[in-house]
Amino acid sequence: MIKEIPAVFGSVFAPEMPIAKFTNGAWQETAWQSSDKLELHPAAHCLHYGSEIFEGMKAFRHDDHSVHIFQLDAGVERMRQSAAALYLPVPDAKQLKNMIIELVRRQAHFVPDRRGAAYIRPALIGTESVVGAAGHPSHDALLYVLLSPVGDYFKQGSQLRIFVETEHIRCAPHMGSIKTGGNYAAALPWTMIAEEKYHAQQVLFCPNGDVQETGASNFILIDGKTLITKPLTSEFLHGITRKSILQAARDNGYTVEERHFTVDEIVQRVSNGAEAVLTGTAAVLSPVTHFIIDGNELVVQSQAEALKLRKFITDIQYGDAKDSHGWLTKVCDCAA
Ligand SMILES: Cc1ncc(COP(=O)(O)O)c(C=O)c1O
Repeated sequence: MIKEIPAVFGSVFAPEMPIAKFTNGAWQETAWQSSDKLELHPAAHCLHYGSEIFEGMKAFRHDDHSVHIFQLDAGVERMRQSAAALYLPVPDAKQLKNMIIELVRRQAHFVPDRRGAAYIRPALIGTESVVGAAGHPSHDALLYVLLSPVGDYFKQGSQLRIFVETEHIRCAPHMGSIKTGGNYAAALPWTMIAEEKYHAQQVLFCPNGDVQETGASNFILIDGKTLITKPLTSEFLHGITRKSILQAARDNGYTVEERHFTVDEIVQRVSNGAEAVLTGTAAVLSPVTHFIIDGNELVVQSQAEALKLRKFITDIQYGDAKDSHGWLTKVCDCAA
């Protein structure tokens, strides 16, 4: 089993990957190849017109060494929705699931112990090589899956500073729920301002005060035993971690309010002791420590409820609590 967890999240990969081609209107059989190269025509549709989508999931190693993927079906389903939304060939659910499971099984030694997890990154790219195809979808595509041993995305116990952006949007409002690269590129200008000017790790997009999500995670306000988060719209990514945490919170007697809320409400509640968290496959559930709003710093006074909620999820992921909703897919017993 891998001993050292790479310092940079998602920078080291298992050496092989499954790959499937879509050509002549059909998915071809899965093949296996080295994960360090991809042969692409320089005119490939994805390189010019953004026909690219991806997913993010994690595999966890339990103390008995067995390896389990968290929310595999939900990730596969969201990938199929993203593909359909960008008119890319929709992956066959069974084929994609098998690609992921087989990769984790073959490369199980890349799944670290409970200090970390293996991040699973399926990607689908349009490969038709016609630069005149700006106005039509790619007929050809490649689907492949990377596996990367990871630790914390946001270092636990250190500051998590959030810059609150009230003028700009993360991406086009009809694109937010699609996990596509262009959305991340679109958010970069504000992310860079936040980082350079305010040393903030994430931007919370709140156009006209409406609290949406950050550049790479969902946002939940926690006030006592109540969780407040935006209801699902096309403007933001429907996080699988968000959904899992809302369910785990309900299971543990919390109240969940999925409703629109504003930056003013964050200020008012956080000033009175409420907490806030970012949620995502990479972020897991990370407590916000500071907001920067209109150039002023708002300190979050406590992270206690956040850490309790984080434990509800990580206990299930690492096999310390019962997986009562069937969120784990066991891949193998995978001795170390
Ligand atoms: C923009 C954005 N929002 C939210 C999330 C959280 O989604 P999930 O919990 O499915 O990882 C992510 C990905 O992690 C993301 O990139």
